[in-house]
Amino acid sequence: MDIVKASEPAIARAVECLRRGGFVGLPTETVYGLAADAGSDLAIARIYAAKGRPQFNPLIAHVASPGMAASEAVFDDRAQRLAARFWPGPLTLVLPVAATGRVCELARAGLQTVALRMPGHPVALELIRAFGGPLAAPSANRSGYISPTTAQDVVAEFGEESGLVLDGGPAQLGLESTIVAVLPGEAVRLLRPGGVSREALLTVVDEISAAPAGHIEAPGQLVSHYAPRARLRMNALAPEAGEVYLGFGPHHRDGSLNLSRSGDLTEAAARLFAMLRTLDASGVAGIAVAPVPEHGLGEAINDRLQRAAAPRCL
Ligand code: TXA
Ligand code: MG
Repeated sequence: MDIVKASEPAIARAVECLRRGGFVGLPTETVYGLAADAGSDLAIARIYAAKGRPQFNPLIAHVASPGMAASEAVFDDRAQRLAARFWPGPLTLVLPVAATGRVCELARAGLQTVALRMPGHPVALELIRAFGGPLAAPSANRSGYISPTTAQDVVAEFGEESGLVLDGGPAQLGLESTIVAVLPGEAVRLLRPGGVSREALLTVVDEISAAPAGHIEAPGQLVSHYAPRARLRMNALAPEAGEVYLGFGPHHRDGSLNLSRSGDLTEAAARLFAMLRTLDASGVAGIAVAPVPEHGLGEAINDRLQRAAAPRCL
């Protein structure tokens, strides 16, 4: 894959590539995605193959307007309010498929629901608009590994594939979208914590239930995911032998990286994956991560750290 700075001709080239059933590395405000035509089974099959993703995991379809969203899924009152408040932005809604929907069955993994998101990045929105339909885009990492926050990260994972990566700068948020299911007859369900905090969701809906245990609806719900090669230990006050330290706020070691010296959770979210990649690339055996508080974006950061720290079963 070649890195191309986002521009009008680059978008035109990307659209051509998508029409031929190819991939495009897509900058979004959360992480970089590997985008393909959400309506093409063949293009989606290529994505699954490139990611090495278990096939039962459905993909997020990215849309550029409320109109495009409405032709893909059924929005009830709650879904409408959530989209109005958080789109474009880091919120994915899992909704019943609309009769006019063009997201193919393979992208939905055969489900009668579809995951939709309107990304908050001008390049992503422009590409979807120019393409004229939804783009399926999982995070552009091989299944189970750390998510990509720069165009260079995408090339590090998929360099040998054909296609191009639109360089839209480093991902601003650095953490994936929050995924909620908004389905008839049930409370809004949090499937994956992410860029929109639980507290923020609760300003729009009255109630949020957790996903039922043991049922995987999102690969981000797999116990081991986002995992560096190095062993990862959470809530560490100091590194042990063979470990490097990743600090947060006052838990800091001279000469070590720190997610945010000032203890700012937004800054920590933005740096999390990039710092894990940097430390992992140095070949260390273990990464000890300082405690991160559980409020606001801290819930999503701790969720990713927990999965990265989990025993690997792959
Ligand atoms: O921020 C993000 O969401 C990024 C950027 C690129 O938009 N994308 C991302 O995609 O994280 P991915 O494929 O790594 O995660 C998408 C999640 C998966 O965990 C998948 O299982 C879930 O969305 N998902 C998709 N369709 C679903 C459905 N119908 N029901 C439940 N979960 C669904
Ligand atoms: Mg992912």
